[in-house]
Amino acid sequence: MEERYSARIARAGNAVPCLEWPLHLPWIDAIERLKRHRNAIIMAHSYQSPEIFHGVADITGDSLALAQAAADCDAEVIVLCGVHFMAETAKILAPDRTVLIPDPEAGCSLAASITAEDVRYLRALHHGAPVVSYVNTSAAVKAESDACCTSANALQVVEAMGADKVIFLPDQYLGQHVASRTAVELVLWDGRCEVHEQFTAQQVRHTREQFDALVVAHPECSPEVLAEADFVGSTTAMGNWLKEKQPPRVALVTECSMADNLRSQFPQIEIIKPCNLCPHMKRITLPNIHACLADLRHPVQVPGRVAARARNSLQRMLAIGRRDAV
Ligand code: 13P
Ligand code: SF4
Repeated sequence: MEERYSARIARAGNAVPCLEWPLHLPWIDAIERLKRHRNAIIMAHSYQSPEIFHGVADITGDSLALAQAAADCDAEVIVLCGVHFMAETAKILAPDRTVLIPDPEAGCSLAASITAEDVRYLRALHHGAPVVSYVNTSAAVKAESDACCTSANALQVVEAMGADKVIFLPDQYLGQHVASRTAVELVLWDGRCEVHEQFTAQQVRHTREQFDALVVAHPECSPEVLAEADFVGSTTAMGNWLKEKQPPRVALVTECSMADNLRSQFPQIEIIKPCNLCPHMKRITLPNIHACLADLRHPVQVPGRVAARARNSLQRMLAIGRRDAV
């Protein structure tokens, strides 16, 4: 069995200790057989554990790449290895497919921070201002929005609204970062990512001095942390920056698995990883991927009217695309 999966084992490099492969390979083999049987594909966010990211995923990427892939997909079944809003986004963009999430409890502190009612309240308060929602929101919040964005295109989407004032939800830190780069006035919400808000400026300074490393940070971190970084960018922009700059040593101020998953792409760069794990992303495991494919367990459903309105917001974002400008 090891020979059959030797390319995947090699791609994972040291991110998966060799002692663990005998535990993972029977699951990987069984999942591969079920994928063929179900005409299914597996999409995995870059924060997934390396045995999932390298072991069973057909498509990997940030939330924008996964949304685009779902919109273009022709498999009958999509297994979304990520958090619930990502699976909902896939279902909204691919309504005729069966979209499964291995653990429906995989949530997100940003998505949980705001409701559709909150959006209506803000609209009434700031009459006429368009609403841009980060994709880290529920389908109901997307349905109340004019457009969605991800960290890869937030600035671009805000400016595409053509308004002097935009309501930007729900990530306050991403919003502050975008506000610092545009003349558009942003009305912000007080949502935070429970993983990225843990980083401190002092930790970043310490890492830089201790390891003599450049620092790359995700815009969900606080403004104090971002001020210390050599580069601020989305999940994909981080990879692009490493490719272009090729620093000898870099510290990634983001979710822990990103470092594991980037290492195989950049073996010549020493990547220092933080220990902040997203507990929601880590609810996805090889056994629960297998169980959801075996029984078509945990299909994601979005009520028709909500889905139609949320789809408009997502499609507006996809039409604007990606510039990785934040
Ligand atoms: P990306 O949009 O960069 O994939 O980030 C999603 C996320 O949940 C970051 O914490
Ligand atoms: Fe949500 Fe933060 Fe986890 Fe991303 S890392 S899914 S923003 S809680």
